[in-house]
Amino acid sequence: MVRVLVTGGLGFIGSHLVRRLVSSDWCTSLINVDNMGFGSNVNNLKDVEGCRKYSFVYGDIRDPELVSRLVKDVDVVVNVAAETHVDRSISNPKPFLETNVLGTFNLLEACRHNDVRLFMQVSTDEVYGEAEGGRSFKEGDAFRPSSPYSATKAAADCLVMAYNRTYGLNTIITRSTNNFGPYQHPEKFIPKAIIRAALGLKVPVYGSGRQVRDWIYVEDHVEAIESALLKSRGGKVYNISAGNELNNLEVVKQILRIMDKPMDLIEHVEDRPGHDARYSLDSSLIRSELGWAPRHSFLEALRKTVRWYMQNEWWWKPLADERTLHPTPWKIRW
Ligand SMILES: NC(=O)c1ccc[n+]([C@@H]2O[C@H](COP(=O)([O-])OP(=O)(O)OC[C@H]3O[C@@H](n4cnc5c(N)ncnc54)[C@H](O)[C@@H]3O)[C@@H](O)[C@H]2O)c1
Repeated sequence: MVRVLVTGGLGFIGSHLVRRLVSSDWCTSLINVDNMGFGSNVNNLKDVEGCRKYSFVYGDIRDPELVSRLVKDVDVVVNVAAETHVDRSISNPKPFLETNVLGTFNLLEACRHNDVRLFMQVSTDEVYGEAEGGRSFKEGDAFRPSSPYSATKAAADCLVMAYNRTYGLNTIITRSTNNFGPYQHPEKFIPKAIIRAALGLKVPVYGSGRQVRDWIYVEDHVEAIESALLKSRGGKVYNISAGNELNNLEVVKQILRIMDKPMDLIEHVEDRPGHDARYSLDSSLIRSELGWAPRHSFLEALRKTVRWYMQNEWWWKPLADERTLHPTPWKIRW
């Protein structure tokens, strides 16, 4: 019997993880706590709402009392909740500190005072910063975060490592590269490009578009998380990468090709401040130790994603307003 608490399960990655865990044999009950903030969407989990194993709590990980109550009834905590949008962290960093650092702290405190068997932190490749000179980061490499978002994620990772070492809390940290797939908010790069192209609007590309990202299909990411939950001894950090290094311009061109749209829809816009030129991870540890490998090729997954957005206008239409589709959202003030 394994009772799981997932935080941020109404978001993009969280909803894929919840769907995967509730359909597994080993997870006997799952509580999803989410404050229904930016990035969340109740429609992400419409299909699991009636599931016997699943329950939803509208709540905030910044609330230590709530967190402490929830943690009492579970064996495993997976912290997916975060303020995630880099551009928004540039406009207004404080909510990122409150959720990503203090929220993680509340969860860790609750876990160490209760009999939680495992605390997993879902983190990001952005904690390592820019990957210069063709290198790929390993789990032990130093943090060099560039944005307020990645700085708060790095701070949270440090707290998790300290709770493992100081209090003996069993922890796992996963650091994945950029995700894409169904249910990703239209404000993010790939959905925005698909939706704008579908509407015949210009597709914005920051600066030259030569920034390299290492893309992973979200289902491959959540499969890696599940592998770590089931197979790892704990006390570990795992990089998760599918090895799909592509620059942003190439990704937009592939989307336009799949959608049979003209290349002149591409519009170069002012670059984001502090924009990292390249992210790259070495994921050999999770592959060799846990036997995980991605199942989807980049092109196959991109085609699936384009098809999903084209077939699920009901999902994205209410989110795709003028603001969410704005070409340079780092200039937005909250
Ligand atoms: N999207 C990516 O490419 C990517 C890559 C690597 C790591 N990650 C990490 O994965 C996690 C999920 O990312 P995502 O893209 O699904 O984000 P998302 O923005 O889609 O979802 C985040 C969810 O967390 C919830 N949340 C935010 N603050 C909360 C709070 N204080 N209390 C309770 N719930 C709260 C939101 O309501 C939302 O449902 C994050 O921790 C992020 O750092 C994301």
